[in-house]
Amino acid sequence: MLITFEGIDGAGKSTQVKKLEKYLVDNGREVLTLREPGGTVVAEKIRELLLESKHDITPMGELLLFSASRAELVQQVILPELEKSKVVILDRFFDSTTAYQGYGRGLDLNMLQKINDISTFGLQPDLTFFLDISPEDALIRKFSEKSLPLAFENNEMDRMESSGLSFYQRVREGYLKLAIAEKKRFVLFDACSDPDTIHAQITQKVNACSTPL
Ligand code: TYD
Repeated sequence: MLITFEGIDGAGKSTQVKKLEKYLVDNGREVLTLREPGGTVVAEKIRELLLESKHDITPMGELLLFSASRAELVQQVILPELEKSKVVILDRFFDSTTAYQGYGRGLDLNMLQKINDISTFGLQPDLTFFLDISPEDALIRKFSEKSLPLAFENNEMDRMESSGLSFYQRVREGYLKLAIAEKKRFVLFDACSDPDTIHAQITQKVNACSTPL
């Protein structure tokens, strides 16, 4: 079973990923948790290039680098683990590419879908949990109100985070469109709700989608 988490930076995905992983392990499931980009030696190098470098990368180059990292992770790790009937929890998958490189950077969505199909070898998540939050609230959450101006000033943001508020607005709108278009697997949450309430709803959905725990 493949479960993915999506949302703009600062939506609180990692808290929910950890809670779900613990819940599944406590209930006797074999779980592997991964995050994109990264997860193999080469994919981690691509991650560094994409996030830590201040290099100017074109939207097309960015798309292909995220996709190359994904292809490595899917073929080397995710597909073999799913074969062993493990539950794979993935913090970001190809929906991030649609939201960030498609809606955010403005790349053609049809072309993007083809590249997503190639980089994933056609693999689709069983469930996608989307934590929705406004970019303003997300920034405050991530850097805290007081240190936000400092984070800008001190260049504390990674390459993606320095893309600006209107970029994140477009990414969020992209996710909201995806949530409607992919109703079957997308589950939307207000990221500002109580984390334990969100977690309880997540476990309900997971149980409904798999053999009962
Ligand atoms: P990360 O530090 O993992 O952020 P987060 O905790 O928000 O997931 O950084 C991943 C960044 O890469 C994040 O800004 C989203 C972006 N991204 C894309 O733009 N396209 C993609 O396909 C993926 C997987 C991530």
